[in-house]
Amino acid sequence: MARPTSAAARGLRVLKPSADFQRQARLSGLAAYKRLHAESLRAPDTFWRRMAEEHVVWRKPFHEVLRWKPPHAKWFVGGSLNVAENCLDRHLGTNRENQAAIIFEGEPGDVRTLTYRQLHAEVCRAAHVLENLGVGKGDRVAIYLPMIPEAVVAMLACARLGAIHTVVFGGFSPDSLKDRINGCHAKLLITADGGWRRGKIVELKSAADKALEHTPSVQAVLVVKRTAQAVTMRSGRDIWWTEALAGAPNSHRAKAFGSEHPLFILYTSGSTGKPKGVLHTSAGYLLGAKLSSRYVFDLKDNDRYFCSADIGWITGHSYVVYGLMSNGATVFLYEGAPNQPGPDRFWEMIDRHGLTILYTAPTAIRAFMRWGDEHVLRHRLDSLRLLGSVGEPINPEAWHWYHRLVGKGRCPIVDTWWQTETGSIMITPLPGATPLKPGSATLPFFGVAPRVVDERGREVGPDQDGKLVITRPWPSMLRTLWGDDERYRRTYFGEYGEHPDWYFTGDGARRDKDGYFWIIGRIDDVLNISGHRIGTAEVESALVAHPAVAEAAAVGKPDDLKGQSLVVFVTLKQAAVATDELREQLRAHVAREIGALARPDQVRFAPALPKTRSGKIMRRILKDIAAGKPVVGDVTTMEDVTVIAALQDAC
Ligand code: WT7
Repeated sequence: MARPTSAAARGLRVLKPSADFQRQARLSGLAAYKRLHAESLRAPDTFWRRMAEEHVVWRKPFHEVLRWKPPHAKWFVGGSLNVAENCLDRHLGTNRENQAAIIFEGEPGDVRTLTYRQLHAEVCRAAHVLENLGVGKGDRVAIYLPMIPEAVVAMLACARLGAIHTVVFGGFSPDSLKDRINGCHAKLLITADGGWRRGKIVELKSAADKALEHTPSVQAVLVVKRTAQAVTMRSGRDIWWTEALAGAPNSHRAKAFGSEHPLFILYTSGSTGKPKGVLHTSAGYLLGAKLSSRYVFDLKDNDRYFCSADIGWITGHSYVVYGLMSNGATVFLYEGAPNQPGPDRFWEMIDRHGLTILYTAPTAIRAFMRWGDEHVLRHRLDSLRLLGSVGEPINPEAWHWYHRLVGKGRCPIVDTWWQTETGSIMITPLPGATPLKPGSATLPFFGVAPRVVDERGREVGPDQDGKLVITRPWPSMLRTLWGDDERYRRTYFGEYGEHPDWYFTGDGARRDKDGYFWIIGRIDDVLNISGHRIGTAEVESALVAHPAVAEAAAVGKPDDLKGQSLVVFVTLKQAAVATDELREQLRAHVAREIGALARPDQVRFAPALPKTRSGKIMRRILKDIAAGKPVVGDVTTMEDVTVIAALQDAC
């Protein structure tokens, strides 16, 4: 990952919020931010009590703000609520009732709008259907759907019943779906016949059928009809969504659940082969998502907000569903690819629907840059007032392009740093308050106490590289890894012996003299490819499962478009022959095992892999080789140094 240099060092301007933006902002001026942030750290109990009382609809009030027995946090102890009620019922009888909750556009161009009242009715119907299928409090429900309104309905129906959803991104393979279902013993799967992507059908039902051969916990499958091609419906197990919902009542009495009742599990890549089931609970998560949406996106009643992330990622959970709907916002949902039918699809939709806020990823921005300015310039984009970025560090070149071409120099950009585990945005500008430095996620959100430290936990000086830690609990933090408390403790709280209460992010960062954070990227064995986390171990274990492969090592190579591209080094078994055909087979094999997002960009056959004497693969060396750089640094622990030259020659 390229090292960000400070804005000052690059001679870049600091961009202050414009007077126009400030005038209408929810929070104006840096002093206002500083006052609130300081209060949130000085008197966290008072601050969070006030926020929770103001922003959450409680069935029963809480009596204790935080119970912190590191690494386990309980927020708003004693309280009870219903998260779906917080997203829907609270808007009924207000002027939001008939406002659009979702404006949906499918890739083929079909448009559907659901008001808050209509969405509420759909969720109530779905809740009845789920209840009739035996789904109740604490049961797990897997959701494997395209970006269609039913995905939101399914999530909120689970929340309404106190069932725990686990959304699996539609691009994942049958095998990945199977692992996630089995990881949490889901009782029900909600899927679709297919979804539209680049003019083609993504066959979700047939993929689900493959997974379902090995998922004994699943008793029923609800199938949304989206693409309408023929699919196999297994009688006694598979039910059409529309038929089931048609007979169900459109009101539903929601029960209340405790503040710490689990809301969802979301699997994410870690540094071992097994994905981690990040668990989020109810009140704290909801408050974090709601408060950050409101202040980071400066939400107003007449906003039309577009987040391009899929519902299968945490961004879709917090910043399509829970954070936005609890605020009563109008969310634009788009099913398909950004370049279908042409490279201006986003800009065309922004104009046609009058969208005001766009939240997307640097990798998408770099793709738009590559496709050419003319596609953006053809559209007015005058409805936009705010832009956001998430998923990886945004390089200043992409930042300026986004600011100038898309935002016409008028829209602030919020570069938001956070993780699946943090549940909500942690380091971010507040657009009416924070002067921006392109490439920096700027300053911590309310209640967030980040620090950049060295190996021993000592804070490093300004502009020094270090590890990013969060030194206090926050309401939307993950509570554990599903079924693996020990891994939770080890992964996130085991880094510094003297500080068992510090959350370790896995990211490297630096802080400049103004206190601005510059995220460098992952320092563990996790890659960030187009804003998606992929564990090197997952890719390696998929590769060694192939009959031709003896050993494999996966590394990231800096890439202009994707941030990192995936390079794998492979040694073959005696009988196998290194051919281009095998190379293609291995790429397809990984895509089949994990999903297309993990398809290696490059497969390099090698006679041997560089290892330490204790047999650990030296990824650092492979990274240099993949990047075409000379191998520098210490190789004295290496078992056989001649391997380096052989690797450099290999292709
Ligand atoms: C990792 C988390 C949070 C939703 C999307 C990804 C990287 C995320 C930024 C940013 C620099 C960023 C970090 C982080 N990351 N946002 N604004 N600037 N890096 O969620 O899959 O859990 O990945 O994404 O490395 O640890 P995720």
